[in-house]
This record gives sequence, structure tokens and C-alpha cells, in this order.
Amino acid sequence: MDKHLEEILQEAVEAIAAAPDSRALYEAKMRFLGRMGRVAALYKKLKELPPEERPAFGQQINDLRRIIEERAAELDAKLRENEMGARLATERVDVTMPGRRARQGALHPVTRVRNQLIDIFAGMGFEIFEGPEIENDYYNFTALNTPADHPARDMQDTFYVADGILLRTQTSAGQIRLMEKKKPPIKMLSPGRVFRSDDDATHSPMFHQMEGLVVDKHVTLCDLQGMLDEFARVMFSESSRTRLRPSYFPFTEPSVEVDVSCHACGGKGCSLCKGTGWIEVLGAGMVNRHVLENCGIDPDEYSGFAFGMGIERIAMLKYGINNIKLLTENDVRFLEQFK
Ligand code: DAH
Repeated sequence: MDKHLEEILQEAVEAIAAAPDSRALYEAKMRFLGRMGRVAALYKKLKELPPEERPAFGQQINDLRRIIEERAAELDAKLRENEMGARLATERVDVTMPGRRARQGALHPVTRVRNQLIDIFAGMGFEIFEGPEIENDYYNFTALNTPADHPARDMQDTFYVADGILLRTQTSAGQIRLMEKKKPPIKMLSPGRVFRSDDDATHSPMFHQMEGLVVDKHVTLCDLQGMLDEFARVMFSESSRTRLRPSYFPFTEPSVEVDVSCHACGGKGCSLCKGTGWIEVLGAGMVNRHVLENCGIDPDEYSGFAFGMGIERIAMLKYGINNIKLLTENDVRFLEQFK
């Protein structure tokens, strides 16, 4: 082998042998075989030789290369084995160490109550229907027997999106959408968000309602109260009772306010029920005949009842939550309590 090449080989062999670990070895190897390394420089020299000497010299460079590569590979295998051995010895995993506990999530109280309501009424044969959150004036008011200028429109402070288009103030709008499509017998449950310009400790501009609608032949107010009794027993307490008080909604006649006996004191009177023994929980009534007519259902043949409740209100009563804002602040310390 050419003397110069022999020298390079000697240096390379020494550098490789001196490498203390696989990383140093790689660096040593690259000093000779890398793109800018000593061997690459030899190819430049090769070009300067007279043509007849090139094949022999080229062959020698290739031999040099191969030998360096072989030496490096040999040592690399050894070094890696040692390094792996060292790692296995020091990086022992203590399988008896306690694990890190994963934080457990919980369903939001509004979701819990919504699911529970669906469970209760699905068990009585209700089907779920969801209407749009952006409604037009007709479905939210007019078809529900609340024409423009009707004083009852003032009961719900409305967000308008455009002329005649609004954020629904009540899930009752779904009653109309369903009855336009489906004829009796109807047993519908309609959960959803509603919006009103209203904001204090018990009112939020966005909240959830659960609407119920039953239309069939011979449906009476007694059927309504029977179902609501069942709802109160499952939602609040086994001994809960309901009572109906006369009220007014444009889309029901007669209309009632439904009170549930106070589950905190059992009806004796306490701070939750303000000493009355009763808590106002929802609005309901017999579907007004004009509403049935608006949907092409003959009020002389069919009758129905409807009810609507605020899901936040039920959750607040059930869990003793005194400020509705707690339900939208997403404070983990609050939400964690519902696991
Ligand atoms: N939509 C009423 C409200 O938001 C609640 C309500 C009352 C719904 C009586 C009904 C009903 O379906 O029959 O205040």
C-alpha cells in the first residue's frame, strides 16, 4: 500500500481503538470516512494522477476504506454491548413503586340532570326531538299563540339576530316543529339551550330547558300530574309530591305552575322552600287549541299537555347550588364534587 495511505490507516486504527464510547467512535470514524474526511481528500488526489496510475491507487483507497469500516464496526458492536449492559444495570425500574394516579373526570351537573330527565321520560315512552337554537319569530312565538304585540312577549327578553330571526327563548318552539311533521300520538321530549337577556344569581343569558309534549285522544291534566309525580320521585326523593297552581302561558289553557314538595325538609318548611314546604319547579298546561290548529291537528279530536323546565334550576335545587354562575365557571373544585 502507498506509504501515505499506510500512515492514514495507522492513524485511523489508533483513533478508533482509543474511542471510549460509541459516540466518540462515530466521530473518529467520520474524521476519516466522512464527506470532509481524510479519505475523501484522497479521491481528489486520485484525479490529479496520470490516468494509468488511477485504477491501482483507486483500489488502494477502497481497501483503506473497507479496513477502517471493518475496524470501526467491530469496536462499535463491543462498545454498544457494554453501554447497554451499563444502562440495564443503572436504569433499573422499580416495579413496586406506587403509580401516578390519573385524574378522574366527572359529568357536569347540568349533563347529569339532563341525562336523568331523559332516562325518566324515555322510560315512559317519550322520544327525543331537538330543534334549532336560532329560530324564527313564528316558531318561537307566533305559532305558540303569542302574536306580535302580545303582552306575553315581554315575559322573555329576547336576543334578536336579524329581523324576525332570534335565539330561541324557549324549547317550546320545538313543539311546533315536531307537530308540523308528526301527527298524534305524540310523546316528545326536547332538551336544549335557550337564550334570554337576563342575568343574576339564578338567571343566566344562556341556560338549558327540557320540554315535554304529549298529544293524543283523551289526554288530561291528570295524565300530566301522574307523569310529573313520577319525575319528582326519581329526581328528588321517593316521598316527593307535586301540586298544580293556576298560571298563565299563551300556549296552554289551562296553564299551571308545578310545585314539588321540598326535598330538604320533606314539606315542613325550611330556608330552601322559604318556609312554604313547596318549591316551584316548572311550567305546564293543556296545549292551547290554537296551537294544535296552527299545526294542522284537530283540537276537537285530540288534546295534549306540555311542560317546560329549566335544567339548571333542577340541578341547583337537587344539589343545593345557590348561584347559577357556578355552573359555567368550570372551576374544577366545584365540578369535582359531582363524581
Ligand atoms: N316555555 C315556558 C318558559 O320558558 C315554559 C313552559 C310552560 C313550557 C308551560 C311548556 C308549558 O311547554 O306548557 O317559561
